[in-house]
Amino acid sequence: GLVTAAPVLGYGGWLYAEAGRTNVGALSFRNRLRIPPLLRPERTPEGKVFRLRAGAGESEFLRGKSTPTWGYNGSYLGPTLRARRGDRVAVEVSNGLGETTTTHWHGMRLPAVMDGGPHQPIRPGAAWRPVWTIDQPAATLWYHPHLHGRTAEHMYRGMAGLFVVDDGEDPGLPSEYGVDDVPIVLQDKRFHEDGSLDSSGIRFQGPSVTGLLGDEILVNGTHDPFLEVTRTRVRLRILNASNARVYDVGFTDDRTFALVGTDAGLLAAPVPLRRIMLSPGERAEIVVPFAAGERTVLRSRPPRLGANPVYERLAGGDDTFDLLQIRAAPRLAESPPLPARLADVPPVPAGPGTRTRSFVMSDFTLNGRTMDHHRIDQVVETGAVEIWEVTNAGGFPGNGLPHSFHVHEVGYRVLDVNGRRPPPHLRGRKDTVFVPPRTTIRLAMRFGPHSDPVHPYMYHCHLLAHEDAGMMGQFLVVSPEDRHKVHRRPIGHH
Ligand code: C2O
Ligand code: CU
Ligand code: CU
Repeated sequence: GLVTAAPVLGYGGWLYAEAGRTNVGALSFRNRLRIPPLLRPERTPEGKVFRLRAGAGESEFLRGKSTPTWGYNGSYLGPTLRARRGDRVAVEVSNGLGETTTTHWHGMRLPAVMDGGPHQPIRPGAAWRPVWTIDQPAATLWYHPHLHGRTAEHMYRGMAGLFVVDDGEDPGLPSEYGVDDVPIVLQDKRFHEDGSLDSSGIRFQGPSVTGLLGDEILVNGTHDPFLEVTRTRVRLRILNASNARVYDVGFTDDRTFALVGTDAGLLAAPVPLRRIMLSPGERAEIVVPFAAGERTVLRSRPPRLGANPVYERLAGGDDTFDLLQIRAAPRLAESPPLPARLADVPPVPAGPGTRTRSFVMSDFTLNGRTMDHHRIDQVVETGAVEIWEVTNAGGFPGNGLPHSFHVHEVGYRVLDVNGRRPPPHLRGRKDTVFVPPRTTIRLAMRFGPHSDPVHPYMYHCHLLAHEDAGMMGQFLVVSPEDRHKVHRRPIGHH
């Protein structure tokens, strides 16, 4: 692409960024989309036991070139775990990497000590075995490392997978995995000539103030992919598992699809859309109609990041990428109609008297501080309903950087964005939300029942370079009876 130079004061002088990165016209859609395998659990009296092993390997993304990568139970990404509400689940994660990692269950409601955040390290050669009972509505969750300061690197090398939760209230959406219920894990990469991953910039040493932005797209670890569909309606579970890139996804023919679910669960009813924006960590479940024999391309257009033009360009805000070609078979099996009602989605009962906490994101800090393992930033009561008000104050020279806000343990609802009703794609159940510069978003959430006065959950920006730089805080969820056991400086592993 065109190389432009932009002056960024206070950031080491001149930075260089490629503007208008695109792969449009450069792809031939010749690789069949890989579908992460479903991991079969072992059924034991204790429940369903899944086994994951983190390890290094080689992947062929670019024809004839081998890329050193990491993955779970394979060389890149991990299998899809699937369990039902009410299931007792154990996962044995063993670490075959040469360094410590962790495995976090993003979006899962579970006790803090099972959460897999920075306080649950798995050392090389060791294994970790969280056990919990699934108790939340059907949703597309995922798992990934969460080692403080190393999350960006571990995920970039390939450590991520989906965890699909089902419940007993299936409204009749397409649900045959890999056939009409297809995971779409989006990641951007940069490759060296020899095929190895280029990770420069992953920790702010490179040209991007958002962290690493790649110029090649992988979908489920497939470069230049196509997907063949055989039904008239297909559900795509899209996960943005990129380090920093924000996608604005739609089809090249601008067809209408139905948004049926967001991060933490199904919507009350399908919402017709032509595009949806996904920042790192966010998920969308969409149902797309197909006619026999047709082809279309899932394409990301420049997302509006809300920064000034210079930062917007540095953050990849003027990039366009083809993600995946979809080919409908010459004959399609007729899918059942899209259900008009999907799920009960009662509001979180937040009102004028609800406790509100404020979070200000500015530079690379949260409320003026960076992450400290030994500091508890918030203490919340079990079962409490709260409003978390998150402001991206800008603060970086110029008009500020884009951020996002993810909270462990809870799902939340977006009450408003700068005082206005949220757009349709933010009206459902969420756990990660994009926060552009000079934006205030109010989130309503109800915390879970698990009390732990020692082990914290995290909240953070999900742009991984920002998270690694310390835009993260820790909160405890404790019952009134445990309150006296809380120490503001928890027992850490350091
Ligand atoms: Cu997706 Cu704290 O993580
Ligand atoms: Cu998480
Ligand atoms: Cu951020």
